[in-house]
Amino acid sequence: MGEAATAEVEVIRSEEVRSHGGPVARTLSDAPSHRVLLLELTPGRELPPHRPPSRLILCVLQGTAELLTGDTTRWLLAGEVATVPAGIARGVRCPAGRLVALAIVAPPPSADDHLGDESVAWPVPSPGPDPAAVIRSEHRELISGVAHLGLLAQRLSGGGVDQLEGEIRTAIEFLEHELLPHARAEERLIYPKVERVLRAEGQATAAMEYDHRRIEGLAADLGRAAAAEHSDEARGLLQQLATTVQLHFDKEEELYLPLLSRLGPEERQAMVRSLRGGHPEEPTPRQGAGKGDGDKGDTR
Ligand SMILES: [Fe+2]
Ligand SMILES: [Fe+2]
Repeated sequence: MGEAATAEVEVIRSEEVRSHGGPVARTLSDAPSHRVLLLELTPGRELPPHRPPSRLILCVLQGTAELLTGDTTRWLLAGEVATVPAGIARGVRCPAGRLVALAIVAPPPSADDHLGDESVAWPVPSPGPDPAAVIRSEHRELISGVAHLGLLAQRLSGGGVDQLEGEIRTAIEFLEHELLPHARAEERLIYPKVERVLRAEGQATAAMEYDHRRIEGLAADLGRAAAAEHSDEARGLLQQLATTVQLHFDKEEELYLPLLSRLGPEERQAMVRSLRGGHPEEPTPRQGAGKGDGDKGDTR
């Protein structure tokens, strides 16, 4: 007990693991019964196929792993665990991005077990059908209907809704029968898969940064349209800006900001200090937990 209480605890965060071109594996524990390795692989680096008389347990901590077992490959994402029985060929590589994984090998293999085995090799990849191409082609089919909504809005600015009643009804039918079914299919079939990859690879806020870049672009276009006295273009850009910024704020406040309540009080306190430019009137941790915690934040 006393020894355990004074022992040094090393915490390694998966994003901090760096092999810098050195060995792809760092040994965390080496016992007669098992060896625990921390792997960091980038594309082009791998544990080549071999067939040791040891059981392998591979826990993916970050990114995607391509795992060869026997003569098939499986793709694992962060949070997934695979076991390979002793005597079965195995190899690990990273198809894209960066892979961090914990490998437990029992019993520890000898140096000879790691020599290349001519009889095991990565299978030749077959590209197969691409779901992204299916969605892109649906978008191309929908885009003329979407463009028509914009044209209808322009015509409405010169006349009443009553004169365009039929066309507005057609537009609503397009939304109900074509656009929204497409969106619902994405929620059912595409987003859950994207979610799995995002959990493994990160970049869940890339869509919000994309909005920021879009707003910057619209602001620059507005400046040019105003300088050239193009009133219609400036009006359209102002409408786009208002809609884009409002939607962006809504997403930030309803989806992203509540997630900050999952951080510890110290980290939130430091964020408030940074946001306020280090001014001394930052709230205490209790106050820092603030309004967000009182409403929906902590109850999720
Ligand atoms: Fe879509
Ligand atoms: Fe923002």
